[in-house]
Amino acid sequence: MSFDFKNDPIDNFLKLFQEAQVKGIPDANAMSLATVNSENKPSVRIVLYKGMIRRGFSFFTNYDGRKAKEIEANNNIAATFFWSHLDRQIRIEGTALKVTREESENYFATRARLSQIGAWTSHQSEKIESFESFQKKLNEIDVRFKDQVIPCPPHWGGYRIEPRQIEFWFGKSGRLHERYVYEKSGEAWSRFLRSP
Ligand SMILES: Cc1cc2nc3c(=O)[nH]c(=O)nc-3n(C[C@H](O)[C@H](O)[C@H](O)COP(=O)(O)O)c2cc1C
Repeated sequence: MSFDFKNDPIDNFLKLFQEAQVKGIPDANAMSLATVNSENKPSVRIVLYKGMIRRGFSFFTNYDGRKAKEIEANNNIAATFFWSHLDRQIRIEGTALKVTREESENYFATRARLSQIGAWTSHQSEKIESFESFQKKLNEIDVRFKDQVIPCPPHWGGYRIEPRQIEFWFGKSGRLHERYVYEKSGEAWSRFLRSP
């Protein structure tokens, strides 16, 4: 296993993530992402991790949706990867920061055309009349951008989670799981183990 507690946690994550990908773990880049609203009520959903940006875990979304509004008010967030076939969990706590416009545009350009049109069509998290009315709007936008390079919508982009705590959890028999925790103090990481 490519984990050495003496190593930097980001480097350890990257090695484990690569291992998960090489082993064909389904949805290895799916992470649950928790935010809290202004009444301190939490909500959680899956988003896709899209690589490290300046040593922060990146994901992309609609900047007007529920999670973005919650991050705007309180950018403390938590995320968890779970790779069941490997019996591994990685927990991240930290701060969500918007990536640069250029970083969002670069990633948007790599997305499938339908996803690009969807980003223009969807007012994420808002109530809609029906799926038919949504599809109608999608078709209109498809025509509008026919034979064109679709630009990144102004309301769409990425975040990077700047971690302040990362826990690597390895499932062991008898529930004697191993938990390796890194905590950031200033620029340095401290390390400790946690009881299962
Ligand atoms: C496997 C999977 C991957 C997803 N990836 C993303 C993603 O990268 N970005 C995103 O905004 N929503 C993604 N979603 C949809 C979210 O779970 C969620 O429905 C959406 O972001 C709206 O959340 P919100 O209303 O809390 O803002 C994904 C859902 C699943 C099941």
